[in-house]
Amino acid sequence: MGDMSREAAEAAIDVLLQERREFPPPAEFVSQAVVSDPGVYDQAEADLDGFWLEKTRSLLDWFQEPTTGLEWDPPHCTWFADGVLNVSHNCLDRHVAAGRGGKVAYQFVPEPVDEEERAITYAELLADVCRMANALRGLGVGKGDVVGIYMGMVPELPVAMLACARIGAPHVVVFGGFSAESLGERLESTGARVLITQDEAWRKGAGVPLKTTADEAAKLAPSVESMVVLRRTGADVPMQEGRDHWWHDLVPGQADTCEPERVEAEHMLYALHTSGTTAKPKAAVHTSGGYLTYVALTHRWIFDIHDDDVWWCAADIGWVTGHSYIVYGPLTNGATGILYEGDPMFPGPERHWQIIEQHKVTQYYTAPTLIRAFIKSGPDIPERHDLTSLRLLGTVGEPINPEAWVWYWKYIGGERCPVVDTWWQTETGGILISPLPAIVTQKPGSATRPFPGIAASVVDDQGKAVEPGKGGYLVITRPWPGMFRTLYRDDERYVSNYFARFDERTYFPGDGSRQDEDGDFWLLGRVDDVMNVSGHRLSTIELESTLVEHPAVAEAAATAAPDSFTGQTPLCFVLLRAGYEPSDELAAELREWIGQKIGKIARPKAVIIADDLPKTRSGKIMRRLLKDIAEGHELGDTTTLRDPAVVDDLKRRADEVLAASR
Ligand code: PRX
Repeated sequence: MGDMSREAAEAAIDVLLQERREFPPPAEFVSQAVVSDPGVYDQAEADLDGFWLEKTRSLLDWFQEPTTGLEWDPPHCTWFADGVLNVSHNCLDRHVAAGRGGKVAYQFVPEPVDEEERAITYAELLADVCRMANALRGLGVGKGDVVGIYMGMVPELPVAMLACARIGAPHVVVFGGFSAESLGERLESTGARVLITQDEAWRKGAGVPLKTTADEAAKLAPSVESMVVLRRTGADVPMQEGRDHWWHDLVPGQADTCEPERVEAEHMLYALHTSGTTAKPKAAVHTSGGYLTYVALTHRWIFDIHDDDVWWCAADIGWVTGHSYIVYGPLTNGATGILYEGDPMFPGPERHWQIIEQHKVTQYYTAPTLIRAFIKSGPDIPERHDLTSLRLLGTVGEPINPEAWVWYWKYIGGERCPVVDTWWQTETGGILISPLPAIVTQKPGSATRPFPGIAASVVDDQGKAVEPGKGGYLVITRPWPGMFRTLYRDDERYVSNYFARFDERTYFPGDGSRQDEDGDFWLLGRVDDVMNVSGHRLSTIELESTLVEHPAVAEAAATAAPDSFTGQTPLCFVLLRAGYEPSDELAAELREWIGQKIGKIARPKAVIIADDLPKTRSGKIMRRLLKDIAEGHELGDTTTLRDPAVVDDLKRRADEVLAASR
């Protein structure tokens, strides 16, 4: 269980394909579903523009309705280009105007168990957003100015995002677990003028020092002129005169109305960073009209959102899953959502089940890594809670092993709820491959079918479609409204990274996949030098370049080892510079170094100080062998190595450190 290597995933899939365990949509679910007509796939296929224009007009409130759908100049595209709208108006004002201002937008569940929860209605959220938008305008932020956000999971985080959207200022949210250096780089490279943060965030009962980290980051980002600081834990934090403003001083006195900026459909709503195959993270740029349409429709159809539902996406808003399915999709749909501040295991592994029981949550969306953690703490914990309010379950972030899928379906879903395995990425903006729960038969381990209008296939090295059952590269062969339009200030990399592997009409996401006889997709993990740790992307190159910044390190190689909790975990090998001696202390220091430089999630399982790295005679590191070592496989051909004995030693040491997590 939990072994997420490609080979293991394939082996599991083979077993399952033989078993052919299938879960057709339950009749009772189908009878009430938002969408149950299989014809939607053909409709989108027959007239893509017509399909999306109709959807955007019915889902959104445009100041000026678009008359055009897709305009494609490969690899670039626009959607709804002549339309004019405002995202926060769509998420808030129109629901209030329609008499739904009293509906709860967010049920905020603080991490401290003794703190009172807050129900925030659409009308309240609108007033809060207007006040913050006015405050930002007061700080000189206007249309097109970038605002950085570095916060925990508090209601003020969506308030800050929506306030940016209201005045046409693109936001760059940085996950609260990232280091000062990572934050600084993201602020600097996007030219953020304002940074919104908080004193501390709650995590496992302790305060995470966001403000002091933000202060460090600001030294690296001279563009930051002002900071707005929310008081959350009450910790004493330094405030810099003239630059820093307390939220409670700046915001509450502002007017609670604010004219929304009318922006064109292609106006940048936000940029969000993700790891690629290079040392520098890249910022995917998302738009206003296309993105909002896409997240609204996928949210409504895939999660079967009804008016009286209580939706819970348990991701962090700092990642794309939270942007799309905690903030923009659900609010556009006028849904009620849970916003839980803290750690899923705090104060114990029953926290999520308590929340579901107390608030009668109807749809629950989380990551396989968390499901595996729940599996380890045993089914009797969820069984102590009444989870019968649940109607649907979802997963995202990494391939889910079929055993975990079935456990989730059985113990959390009570053998009653469809489970949607949703494949997508930061770049795609929203879900591209997933069952529509009332139409598509679910198969544990398969994300099943592309969403209506999405053209996906599996190809070989030459870009030729492979036969059913054969592995290959996943490609998407035409644009969709929610796709990223470029990388912020780096369009060249947009083209070379994603549209050069095959041709400029073919988006290459970097994942391996296969299709079965029914055409269903089975995702097989990354095919590039990117690993997936707890559903988050990390680049091996980023780890390596961070390690060689340390004075003791001459050379570094990073690879991914399977981990039964996090899916994958980084395993690093280093060669020391002359004058440094190997020691356990130094190895531990290097591990911490990565944690400090990038963020805790990047901290490797181990840093192994090696005498030599497996290299070919021409001096190239043989990554394939490192992978074999990390995955505990028999070593492949070592005859081309400069010194074959090197790998036996590394393998023995890797087996020792990895034994516990395999
Ligand atoms: O490898 C795929 C994996 O996560 C990558 C995207 O990571 P990120 O941009 O951080 O976004 C994560 C949340 C959308 C993909 O390239 N991935 C995501 N969902 C799945 C998945 N792999 C298999 N099955 C999934 N359902």
